[in-house]
Amino acid sequence: MRIVVTGGAGFIGANFLNLFVPRYPQHQFINVDKLTYAANLASLQPIADRPNYTLAKIDIVDAEAVNEIFARHTPDLVVHFAAESHVDRSILGPREFVRTNIEGTFTLLEAFRTHVKSPSALFHHVSTDEVYGSLGDTGHFTEETRYDPSSPYSASKAASDHLVRAYARTFKLPTKITNCSNNYGPLQFPEKLIPLMIMNVLDRKPLPVYGQGLNVRDWLFVEDHCEAIWTVIERGELGGTYNIGGNNEVRNIDVVHTLCRLIAEETGTPHKELTDLITYVKDRPGHDLRYAIDASKLKRELHWSPRETFDTGMRKTVRWYLAHRDWVEQVRSGEYRNWIEANYAAR
Ligand code: NAD
Ligand code: DAU
Repeated sequence: MRIVVTGGAGFIGANFLNLFVPRYPQHQFINVDKLTYAANLASLQPIADRPNYTLAKIDIVDAEAVNEIFARHTPDLVVHFAAESHVDRSILGPREFVRTNIEGTFTLLEAFRTHVKSPSALFHHVSTDEVYGSLGDTGHFTEETRYDPSSPYSASKAASDHLVRAYARTFKLPTKITNCSNNYGPLQFPEKLIPLMIMNVLDRKPLPVYGQGLNVRDWLFVEDHCEAIWTVIERGELGGTYNIGGNNEVRNIDVVHTLCRLIAEETGTPHKELTDLITYVKDRPGHDLRYAIDASKLKRELHWSPRETFDTGMRKTVRWYLAHRDWVEQVRSGEYRNWIEANYAAR
């Protein structure tokens, strides 16, 4: 099978490739990634030299480049991760989100429609629970929950989901969509809550908790998300939508306290020295109060369930960041960008 993975140098895409490239040596994986600020090729070091892996530095909005790749490889499977993914950035500068998340998805769908004719082919769209908007104190998002996005990021993801469904209905494209809750784990860019807080603790910087820290997210270890996607690709219903979640609701302030406790244990630092860094700051505009996923369809029909608990997953994550400060420094300093310039300038 020839598999185009878009956004494979980002957090979830890199975890996906690091899991499945070695597991399936018979499949060819083509990583199509623009290598934005959120990408880091160091994340792909474990698979970079595998014969069944290649990287194409491409902007998914660039129709000519996307068409060329699809014509060259005629993929049997597209797993579409590439996106602008950070809610705060979408509030500060929404344009890039509309461009990549909507126009980029459109460009891929058009290329898929033009070049991929095999009846067994599949376009798998990776989406988010944020398309459903916010929950109050009770209830869960199901696959039938009405879309009600709050941020430019979630609106752009909602639009991309609609495009995928429209192409499935109108042009009979073989598609599947998964909507997942908050991921955490190794290789996450340190702008997101968990890696940001870990790095700030290690640097003894303030831990900026938005509002009162009472917003709730449903956290899932990234490899559990990747396994769920693969399960849906293999056995999910064509044209179907599956919610993916950890059944693991935690208030932001409790996430931060858990991190302080784990880092204190792992480094032998007094706990209070770390919790004293917690600082309540101005809330995010349009901040969704609570996300909680009902993943019972995926469990019932495809027998998927997460392997990691929040405790085991968070400890793994903290240990990974403690052991990989060089990775963080590379992404933060942008040092890896010089490498890209040097290596791609002539191509
Ligand atoms: P990320 O920001 O870490 O990585 C995004 C990747 O996409 C990067 O490698 C970047 O270079 C690439 N990219 C961005 N714009 C591109 C473009 N125009 N052309 C080609 N490549 C481009 O994101 P992530 O957290 O790994 O999320 C991956 C996908 O999963 C996204 O679609 C996101 O909406 C979805 N998702 C994320 C989460 C989460 O908690 N992180 C949860 C549910 C769904
Ligand atoms: O639910 C899935 C979504 O989860 C994905 O679609 C997004 O790509 C991903 O970024 C994530 O969105 P969130 O906005 O939930 O994640 P973030 O890590 O930015 O924030 C998590 C919570 O923590 C949120 O309630 C805001 C809060 N927060 C975040 C940051 C960065 C803080 O309190 N302080 C912070 O500094």
